[in-house]
Amino acid sequence: MGKFAAQFKSINLGSLRKPRRTKWGNNDDETLCSWVADMDFGIAPAIKSAMEEMIRDEEFGYPFWDLDPVIVAFESRMERLYNWTPIPERTKVLSDLIQVLQIVLHHSTKPGDGIAIHVPAYNNFLVNIEEMNRRIVPLQMEFTEEGWKCDNTNLAARLKAERVTMIIVINPQNPTGRAFTHVELTELAEAAKELDIPVLSDEIHSDLLFDDHVHIPFASLSDDAARRTITTTSATKGFNIAGTRTAIMHVGPDALWNEISSLPIDYFGAPNTLGKVATAVAWSECEDWLGELNEQLAKNRAIIDEWVATFDGKVKYHAPEATYLAWLDLSRTKAGAAPEATEYILENAKVRLATGSDYTLHTEIDTHSWARLNFATNEENLREILKRVGEVL
Ligand SMILES: Cc1ncc(COP(=O)(O)O)c(C=O)c1O
Repeated sequence: MGKFAAQFKSINLGSLRKPRRTKWGNNDDETLCSWVADMDFGIAPAIKSAMEEMIRDEEFGYPFWDLDPVIVAFESRMERLYNWTPIPERTKVLSDLIQVLQIVLHHSTKPGDGIAIHVPAYNNFLVNIEEMNRRIVPLQMEFTEEGWKCDNTNLAARLKAERVTMIIVINPQNPTGRAFTHVELTELAEAAKELDIPVLSDEIHSDLLFDDHVHIPFASLSDDAARRTITTTSATKGFNIAGTRTAIMHVGPDALWNEISSLPIDYFGAPNTLGKVATAVAWSECEDWLGELNEQLAKNRAIIDEWVATFDGKVKYHAPEATYLAWLDLSRTKAGAAPEATEYILENAKVRLATGSDYTLHTEIDTHSWARLNFATNEENLREILKRVGEVL
């Protein structure tokens, strides 16, 4: 038994259902919630004690950092895990990845520009691209017998024809759970080079990998990729601290760095001390906790595999290579016949899954009969969720 096993065995529904918690709060007590990408588990003890120490010492005045602890932890972790050396003094600490998306869209692209992104995609990205009056140019993920694939043939020419001025890579991908290979990432990097455009690489799910899948920071692919990649990530998914609102942006392109460096520092705001401490501890002291978490998530994923197999092909999915999200094709089930599969499931099974259509918003791709199930919960709750959903399909 692992050191942290007890933490992954039980969940605290009393705390999860507090109204200020997005995932479970404000749902009736019978509904099981499996939608937002938060985990039902707690946090690593080292993060908890660092935060408790701050509360004990009432340490909430203006902070002073000689060296920003988040940047120090980020740089040394990238070196340690991936043998990638981020460019010195090119990392900024911000509050969240969507803020980084906004900054990069605002300062590296113009209204009307095409923005290439794998679709289905995390809905907030699609919404933000649209709200900023840029055009979503979908790189469509295809469900094939061998797994989720994206056709990169003639990519540069296709992107040029669509007047694409930036590629967004979410790797690992949400919701399909793909961890893109070196070949796939290189094809994207080559297209970016040919068009001489930047790449925003969202690596927020990279701590959650299964089997022998590995994470490759996009900026580590080549010197050219390093110069055109804006890397954004945080400890919030892997370490379950999304509410602490701390993220980083590492800027490869000189033009973008020069532009944002010329802006007043207050334009970006300052992240809070608790979040910075939590992130720095997560990235420097919690790899053992993360290892055990990934073992638990792999067990949960196996439970989903078994459950899907009971439908004899009526429910389709590919086991994710990374992260705790199962992207389910329910089109051959009763749920798939409803205007929105997840609405039918919520009503009939009292289980809240993430809405399929949200992942293709503002595109012509139809995913109303799909659902995203978050399996970062304890086994008992996961089995109950699957039983309820299975009964109404
Ligand atoms: C791929 C991806 N990027 C970004 C985010 C959100 O990050 P933040 O809360 O830091 O904006 C999520 C949250 O689910 C996500 O899945």
